[in-house]
Amino acid sequence: MDEAEFDKFADEYRSMHAANIRLSGEDPEYFAEYKVVDIAAELARDNVVARRALDFGAGVGYSVPFFTRHMPATRVTCLDVSRKSLDVGAARHGAAAEFVHFDGQSIPYPDGTFDVALASCVFHHIPHEEHVSLLGEIRRVLVPGGRLFVFEHNPLNPLTRHAVNTCEFDEHAKLVRAPTMRRRAREAGFAAADVRYRIFFPHALRSLRPLETKLTWLPAGAQYYVAARKAG
Ligand SMILES: C[S@@+](CC[C@H](N)C(=O)[O-])C[C@H]1O[C@@H](n2cnc3c(N)ncnc32)[C@H](O)[C@@H]1O
Repeated sequence: MDEAEFDKFADEYRSMHAANIRLSGEDPEYFAEYKVVDIAAELARDNVVARRALDFGAGVGYSVPFFTRHMPATRVTCLDVSRKSLDVGAARHGAAAEFVHFDGQSIPYPDGTFDVALASCVFHHIPHEEHVSLLGEIRRVLVPGGRLFVFEHNPLNPLTRHAVNTCEFDEHAKLVRAPTMRRRAREAGFAAADVRYRIFFPHALRSLRPLETKLTWLPAGAQYYVAARKAG
């Protein structure tokens, strides 16, 4: 991917995104918040205390206010190849996180720096043949026992495919099926890689959302995540 691709969307990213997902009846913050809530719940379930989190491909820093709200003890590093997106994020979120540029290959941190890593809707913008090596690079900067959460669009969901096909910043996107992403996480050396499907009901059917915790096995959700662990 051209490093400048998301530079040109940085200022308008939120409004473009909001327009693209309007069929869901939700705003971009809904999609950003559920991810951090899920991560916080997974870590709490396993009694994992995260001091440092890496938001890999953080863009304009959507996750930052939700880390502040749901994981206040965790310091967030937002990493991206788009300098302009990072500048927009830093201007918007100030000292709540650090915003760091990345060359697309080597994460500029020593081994074992982070307790948890998140990648939200990033890997479908990266050539598939680079996925395993980048997941390995994320694994390198996690502590032993550190957690990985890769959130992606589910190509099996027709509404998701429609949203991606009509989104300007997804012009070059190549969606990844959940079992493929899980296999890539394992090939990169992660253990205990599991898939959970998410986002089944639009805003109009939000009263049904409590059921979603029982549906994470069903490959029909609009998004999914792969949760994995660095053995150690
Ligand atoms: C659709 S945006 C998602 C941004 C953010 N994670 C979110 O959920 O809103 C995809 C982001 O991936 C970034 N990206 C693309 N290739 C990357 C790479 N090789 N490493 C890290 N980030 C990358 C883009 O610059 C862009 O900010």
